[in-house]
Amino acid sequence: MKTTFAPFAFLFSALLVSQAAPVSIQLPLETSVYKAAPGADLANAQCLTCHSAEYVSTQPPMPRAFWKGSVEKMIAKYGAPVPAEQIDPLTDYLAKTYGTGLTNAPIISAPAATGIPTNPTAKQLLARSGCFNCHGVEQKIIGPSFKSVAEKYRKNAEGLIKVSHQITHGGSGLWGSIPMPPFQQLTQEEVKILGSWILEQK
Ligand code: HEC
Ligand code: HEC
Repeated sequence: MKTTFAPFAFLFSALLVSQAAPVSIQLPLETSVYKAAPGADLANAQCLTCHSAEYVSTQPPMPRAFWKGSVEKMIAKYGAPVPAEQIDPLTDYLAKTYGTGLTNAPIISAPAATGIPTNPTAKQLLARSGCFNCHGVEQKIIGPSFKSVAEKYRKNAEGLIKVSHQITHGGSGLWGSIPMPPFQQLTQEEVKILGSWILEQK
């Protein structure tokens, strides 16, 4: 008798838990909307329809290019109906309120303040610059996957030069009509680390 009873007890408590769950996960109000600052009205209008502001507030402080990429990704990938003229004001608000400000300066310039290592690996550089916002290693997002970039230059001795040029100066027309923004704040050494890493992807 005992052995048949136990599973029933379990089922019953599981049922209770699943009914109680929706009540217990309610977010505190102040984290579910955007922080008050000029531009918050835009973010509250455009960026709360699909998910809470926590998607933004849980990101590490990122440079402006990351936030621009983020807004563009929401539009291109998920169909967020953001009018073109609101992209820059939204980006400014996000960069000022949740990022490193409007300068587009990478966090690398203040390692002591942020605790980020002074000799970052390519992966950290990619993440910090917002590259993964537009590129997957495996899949195309707004830009091509890093594997397909590596594939394109596999037999090209000038691959690193071309890729480095694109990273520093941005560009369009190689993969489609969407432009990649320039990353002139990266040093030549950092660009080389990034380019070499990308070309090693298989
Ligand atoms: C049409 C729906 C939609 C709108 C509108 C929208 N998002 Fe998103 N957002 C998504 C989806 C879907 C995800 C991915 C969710 C997941 O992976 O769990 C996401 C994820 C994110 C993330 C997490 C990182 C990432 O890239 O996956 C950030 C940051 C973000 N959104 C910011 C914004 C901002 C800023 C706005 C306003 C400009 C916005 N979102 C508007 C659908 C939307
Ligand atoms: C806002 C979106 C966006 C961000 C952020 C972004 N890229 Fe791109 N990237 C693109 C697009 C779009 C293309 C394709 C451009 C084209 O067709 O020429 C591209 C192309 C590339 C290419 C291919 C160049 C070639 O010669 O074929 C490389 C390499 C690259 N990106 C690296 C990076 C790195 C490294 C970063 C971060 C420092 C980065 N991207 C950040 C959108 C982005």
